[in-house]
Amino acid sequence: MNVLSVASELYPLIKTGGLADVVGALPLTLQSHGIVTRTLIPGYPGVMAAISGATPCLEFDDLLGERAVVLEITHQGLDLLVLDAPAYFDRPGGPYVDQAGKDYPDNWKRFAALSMAGARIAAGALPGWQPDMVHVHDWQSALTPVYMRYATTPELPSLITIHNIAFQGQFSAQIFPSLGLPGHAYWEALEYYGTIGYLKGGIATAHAISTVSPSYADEILMPEFGMGLEGVIASRAADLYGIVNGIDARTWDPGSDALIAGNYSAATLKKRETNRTALAEQFGLEQDNGPIFCVISRLTWQKGMDVLAEVADDLVAQGGKLVILGAGDSALESALLAAAARHPGRVGMRVGYNEPLSHLMQAGADAIIVPSRFEPCGLTQLYALRYGCVPVVARTGGLNDTIIDANEAALAARVATGIQFAPVSAESLRQALRRTFRLYADDKVWQQIQKQGMKSDISWGKSAERYVDLYKRLVKG
Ligand code: ADP
Ligand code: GLC
Repeated sequence: MNVLSVASELYPLIKTGGLADVVGALPLTLQSHGIVTRTLIPGYPGVMAAISGATPCLEFDDLLGERAVVLEITHQGLDLLVLDAPAYFDRPGGPYVDQAGKDYPDNWKRFAALSMAGARIAAGALPGWQPDMVHVHDWQSALTPVYMRYATTPELPSLITIHNIAFQGQFSAQIFPSLGLPGHAYWEALEYYGTIGYLKGGIATAHAISTVSPSYADEILMPEFGMGLEGVIASRAADLYGIVNGIDARTWDPGSDALIAGNYSAATLKKRETNRTALAEQFGLEQDNGPIFCVISRLTWQKGMDVLAEVADDLVAQGGKLVILGAGDSALESALLAAAARHPGRVGMRVGYNEPLSHLMQAGADAIIVPSRFEPCGLTQLYALRYGCVPVVARTGGLNDTIIDANEAALAARVATGIQFAPVSAESLRQALRRTFRLYADDKVWQQIQKQGMKSDISWGKSAERYVDLYKRLVKG
């Protein structure tokens, strides 16, 4: 089966979060099931620099008013189609924001262009290659199924995966005439509280909708989590699936990871110590036995970083240490930097994005804190499981589905893999940390939790099979 995937990020070429990890890993795992995926991504400067050997395979004279070329290349086992459209994508700054952190004012056009290119390829524009179906991700490629619905060619099956419903691609209705869609598409697909909703349009027109964990699939039917889209989701409930993410087990393997200080496995847990020491050195922490907690996160309200800042003093008072890696909201950044300044040697903070350091943190810290208010899936707790870094997580979305709380029963049955807490408040996180300190104090129990986590199946195995089933069902019609 041939699948066209359309996305705005793909690891290892361009990443701002978990979306990239998933878009980069899924095609590799589907290969062994006979699924050939070609992934269409924007030609941002970093992407163009990494694919210098790519060859042109398709030209658009007028992609929403701009010239564009599609380049093809195989990069680290991934079959890529790169949309080289300098007017849209050749700019400094990030994929969505400029160097000052402001959304590009023409994001509506940049990602409509990406989506339109996807729909043209679906319609057979690429010489010598015809996909059987299309898989799009989040609002940035959500117009692809909309363009497919209103094209003159027969419509292929499509799947939209929602990685985070908080980001919806909502724009003024005034852009509608510039999208190149027939007038009736406005009311049939795109209208969203008097504006235009890209994600809304994708949900309304794709043949199936999936999200990245079963719990989140249930949650987005409710107003607290659906963020305005709960009604639209409910109207498509029969076509809604929750498939939990896996991890790229080659990139994230403590047994072979070249980015950490010393390799280890569940059988050689003692060797983890080398990483713990290296981590303490990197962050200038005191070398004592108190547990090291880490946080690797976008610094946002979603991720509960305000709550983390509130509990930092208590964590230190109990003898713990905390290392934070993240970037985002400047008020949250300041609050966490202030905690680090209050507790030199006990709290360390790195502002910014640092992939290698994130590996050392997973390998060296004793536990990771993920206090998200909502979490569609979450990947850091999965990497943590693999690295024997015990997850302390909010009981929501994918965190709920992937971590087994160390309550009495789970400990007795030897199935516990972490600590869950709810609601997301300073008091409940403080209590969870106190529970974590108690578990950590008992070497045998702690090691059992670590080893159980390292054993848990977080590969793409089962989830890949669920995608394959879904793809097949869609293609059969
Ligand atoms: P989200 O996509 O909502 O940010 P996920 O947990 O799904 O959350 O994915 C986050 C990904 O980004 C993980 O691979 C994590 O390791 C990585 N990450 C987040 N912040 C940083 C950072 N500051 N430096 C390096 N990697 C980071
Ligand atoms: C989004 C979500 C995160 C999920 C990731 C990959 O960024 O916030 O929970 O793990 O997508 O699906």
